[in-house]
Amino acid sequence: MNRASFDKPPLFDDPAEKARWVRQMFARIVPGYDRVNRAMTFGMDRRWRQATVAAANPRGALALDIATGTGDLAIELIRQGARHVIAADFVTEMIAVGRRKAAAVASAGEITFVAGDAIALPFADGTFDSVVNGFMLRNLTNLKATLEELRRVLKPGGRLACLDVTHPPGALRPFCLAYFNGLVPLIGGMLSGDFAAYRYLPRSLNDLPNAKRLAAIMSQAGFSDVSYQLLNFGLIAIHTARK
Ligand SMILES: C[S@@+](CC[C@H](N)C(=O)[O-])C[C@H]1O[C@@H](n2cnc3c(N)ncnc32)[C@H](O)[C@@H]1O
Repeated sequence: MNRASFDKPPLFDDPAEKARWVRQMFARIVPGYDRVNRAMTFGMDRRWRQATVAAANPRGALALDIATGTGDLAIELIRQGARHVIAADFVTEMIAVGRRKAAAVASAGEITFVAGDAIALPFADGTFDSVVNGFMLRNLTNLKATLEELRRVLKPGGRLACLDVTHPPGALRPFCLAYFNGLVPLIGGMLSGDFAAYRYLPRSLNDLPNAKRLAAIMSQAGFSDVSYQLLNFGLIAIHTARK
């Protein structure tokens, strides 16, 4: 563990600076990433991923998992019947782990891992039947432009499903926030040794509009049939939309 891992995550004035910090942070936490995820969510992340993939209508699809990380959504897409999955991320260290995991569970050739930035994808217009992403939105520097890019690579009628943390509504809000602002950075920091990375996690929620506003931005980005479901007392949201 280096000294920098105890530092606070910086406040970002400049989008390019945020993108650079986010890349370096995810590259640092790759080794324990899956273990920390399971521990922080008490294993519930599996169920959230299953629901997200189901919402993207993957049966027979050519699907994109953008910001794939270590590939859990990509693997779930194959489990739920996708024909082929492209799994893309801008951190190559994440992709390397994903590739190894996929080789162990998916048939050879079912998932192709590629390096790519969600805001400028290396795919032609109308390539995919389904696009999914998990825990990507808070990390973006331009949410609307990225959603427009995801829409560009979808076929007409294709489905988008986005899984992320959201701002919990209602009476349980203080408890949800105590978990997310207190317990999550503590568990993540202790297991990974990288307290800055896991302090960034609750802070990054400030960069994401609430679930209703996010749905409105998806509509502004050109999607139709936008809807969302809230899970875990409103701390988790799955947004779905159609091109
Ligand atoms: C919290 S992880 C989530 C990984 C995975 N989707 C999951 O469900 O576990 C966020 C991932 O998003 C990636 N990411 C963030 N911004 C990105 C961007 N603009 N383009 C591509 N990948 C991005 C990071 O590199 C990281 O792997």
